[in-house]
Amino acid sequence: MTANRSLLLLPGDGIGPEVMDATRRVIDWFDRENRLNVDIGEALVGGASIDAHGMPLTDDTLERAKSVDAVLFGAVGGPRWDGLDFSMRPERALLGLRKEMELFANLRPAVVYPALSHASSLKPDIVSGLDIMIVRELTGGIYFGEPRGIEDAGGGERRGVNTLVYTTHEILRVGRVAFELARKRNGRVCSVDKSNVLESTLLWREEMTRLGAEEYPDVELTHMLADNAAMQLVRDPRQFDVMVTTNMFGDILSDCAAMLTGSLGMLPSASLGARSGDRIPALYEPVHGSAPDIAGTNRANPLAMLSSFAMMLRYSFDLQEEAALVDASIGAVLESGLRTADIMEDGARQVTTTAMAEALVREIEKRA
Ligand code: IPM
Ligand code: MG
Repeated sequence: MTANRSLLLLPGDGIGPEVMDATRRVIDWFDRENRLNVDIGEALVGGASIDAHGMPLTDDTLERAKSVDAVLFGAVGGPRWDGLDFSMRPERALLGLRKEMELFANLRPAVVYPALSHASSLKPDIVSGLDIMIVRELTGGIYFGEPRGIEDAGGGERRGVNTLVYTTHEILRVGRVAFELARKRNGRVCSVDKSNVLESTLLWREEMTRLGAEEYPDVELTHMLADNAAMQLVRDPRQFDVMVTTNMFGDILSDCAAMLTGSLGMLPSASLGARSGDRIPALYEPVHGSAPDIAGTNRANPLAMLSSFAMMLRYSFDLQEEAALVDASIGAVLESGLRTADIMEDGARQVTTTAMAEALVREIEKRA
């Protein structure tokens, strides 16, 4: 069978290449079984690209990312590149890809696997069965607003500036993604803002309210201030179904939600753009970073990356059965007691990144 899909792998830095290798085993399995049929390319990004090409994201890599059906991204950054100018830092690669590919909707599901309800820092009766979806606006807000920069204010003073700005269409397009997801889930959206202090997010609240009333009257819409949302996430996270919020609040709240699941090493994400024809620009990445402290030790948890791959099967390739197979296999492998170091607990068996991936491939094969 000839390949009819294209995929670009960007492993990046730190544990990125390790979790990518682990995921590659699963991708190769699907390919061998003729259930994916994908052309796979690979490129450097972040610090690895700085070392090889002098910049975190080359035009060539960006063009390739824009031309494929989906991008799978590892992680970028590390102490080696910390001293670089802001515009040259590894993180710029990720921000550049998001902006240039117009990936305005970032989906960050936080699901607690039954086997891991004891790994969370919260009590099991608070997190067990948790299944929330955070939709983070990804190409606007304070991350990209102008003016920005650090300037000389004279007299030994300096001035650091960033701008929090949102326009109607930026709010509506990410809002629609959240409402559509809610329709397929439990029919509830909680929009998070700081409308008591920030005008740009008062606009956010007003536009979400209008969108809900005009286009999604069947979905229950509530609003919450960001500080309260942070508190509610650790007090009673199961009250949420879909949360939709700005770029920066989403960055913060999704790390918080990740810990509810036991480890940052468990959380996948999908960053999606606007559909044109049958194509949606898409980049999938684990929420965890490059974890330089454990890089190269084969101890990283590959499950966030593997779940990100499952999201790719679901959203980019419409392979629902295959996506469910990966998700169920992850649950089963955890149920069997295998754990990477980050989620290790008494009575479980600690395994390496590679061993976790191998166990997953065996489980997938068994269930297929
Ligand atoms: C994330 C990360 C990034 C962000 C960094 C690496 C630029 O924290 O994806 O959540 O702030 O968006
Ligand atoms: Mg973050």
